[in-house]
Amino acid sequence: MYLGIDIGTSAVKVICTDGTEIFASATADLTVQSRHSGWSEQDPQAWWAATCAALAEIDETRSLSDVTAIGLSGQMHGAVLLDAQRDLLRPAILWNDSRSTKDCARLQEALPEIGTISGVLPLPGFTAPKLMWVARQEPEVHGRIATVLLPKDYIGLCLHGEIATDRSDAAGTLWLDQATRDWSSMVAAASATDISWLPRLADGHEVVGQVTAAAAAKTGLTAGIPVVAGGGDAATGAVSLGATESGRGFISLGTSGQLFVAGDAYHPNPAKFVHAFAHTVPDRWYQMAAMLNGARPIAWLAGQLGISAGEVVDLAEAADATRVPTFLPYLTGERSPHGDPHIRAGFFGLEDSTDRAALCRAVVEAVAFTFADAVDSFGDTITGLPYLAAIGGGSKSPFLLQLIANVTGQRIGRTAGSDAGPAMGAARLAACGVGAMPLADLGQQPVIADWFDPAKTAGLNDRLSRYRALYTALKTLD
Ligand code: XUL
Repeated sequence: MYLGIDIGTSAVKVICTDGTEIFASATADLTVQSRHSGWSEQDPQAWWAATCAALAEIDETRSLSDVTAIGLSGQMHGAVLLDAQRDLLRPAILWNDSRSTKDCARLQEALPEIGTISGVLPLPGFTAPKLMWVARQEPEVHGRIATVLLPKDYIGLCLHGEIATDRSDAAGTLWLDQATRDWSSMVAAASATDISWLPRLADGHEVVGQVTAAAAAKTGLTAGIPVVAGGGDAATGAVSLGATESGRGFISLGTSGQLFVAGDAYHPNPAKFVHAFAHTVPDRWYQMAAMLNGARPIAWLAGQLGISAGEVVDLAEAADATRVPTFLPYLTGERSPHGDPHIRAGFFGLEDSTDRAALCRAVVEAVAFTFADAVDSFGDTITGLPYLAAIGGGSKSPFLLQLIANVTGQRIGRTAGSDAGPAMGAARLAACGVGAMPLADLGQQPVIADWFDPAKTAGLNDRLSRYRALYTALKTLD
């Protein structure tokens, strides 16, 4: 039996599986700290505490002593800084933190070819500019850095004591040369980073360590069981869907949103902020539009209204579709397709008669519109795909998936257990790592349980046009 551990932003999710069926699953919630506008941080020790809590919950249903290998998945791009004693130097700076905007401009100026080397233009979400910010604003911390890790690799360190990452997570740092799949000394030098701080690179199914006696005592896992490198959550989500083979695509609706298409060659397309990254499996790359706000605006509105995300979607579905205001969903700025850390969210077109249901409808439609923009930014790469699979918490809503099919013109397919994607992908990599599954089997696609075919919805395209026009009108405001 394999464990998939996914270090998300809103929760740590752990599943116990044979690579197909889920025998037990547990989540432990996390909070995000924002000490200043545009800042987004978490304490890596909170990830470890949440991982231990989720493991304890799994153990109640299925004994952890049956686990034979572990795979890791996690939120990408976060900077975890350690000193020479491997102690944390500060809270992790996360993927949706926008403090390093100025550093991105400097990096681009210092290395104009960075978009082609790193597969995407510098944006504050990525790891390298965060190090430049630390060098400028916290020189005392910067002077003590000995190791930089990504979120899931910190949990790897807690489990097995090694300093390692996989290429898909490395890809999201900007320090990886995507074509050669190795660290780029040029990008490191231009971004206040000593290349010796960066972890050893592995493929996602490679065993990088064994559970230590200390981790075993803390968690109930068996000491010595292998842990594979795993992948960034986008890549492990792909692995759960067979999107390791060229031309397979999916959308992910979590705290962030992604449109992901796998390929067997490196095709950078930096102009539209489409990311071209190394995959977690050998000799594969992927193109991804990464939307910082994903399905999060639905959870945000639910929190403000004191109702559940499901109730927001139900109210949206029941709303009068002829009187929907416009919502821009950019609570934390936006990456694809705007590359705009300054833009913020807002409602427009409210009337005295606008009610809660109309607000809910505007927010749910805005989530769908971000995927319409994503599909557009891909251009021809997206044409001819048979369908896009859907994963992530937001994929539980048929109404939202139908809206996305309608605005993108793409057929959407949903598997059973679609919300466990990244953890399942990590567990499948673990199965490969111990030789229980051939790497080629990762290309097997799970059965699609529900289909959503594009249909016409009255007024939806007009509302999409208004949504796009509103961004254009507002983007110069800071
Ligand atoms: C991908 C991205 C998010 C994070 C958090 O580029 O920023 O997917 O990995 O989920």
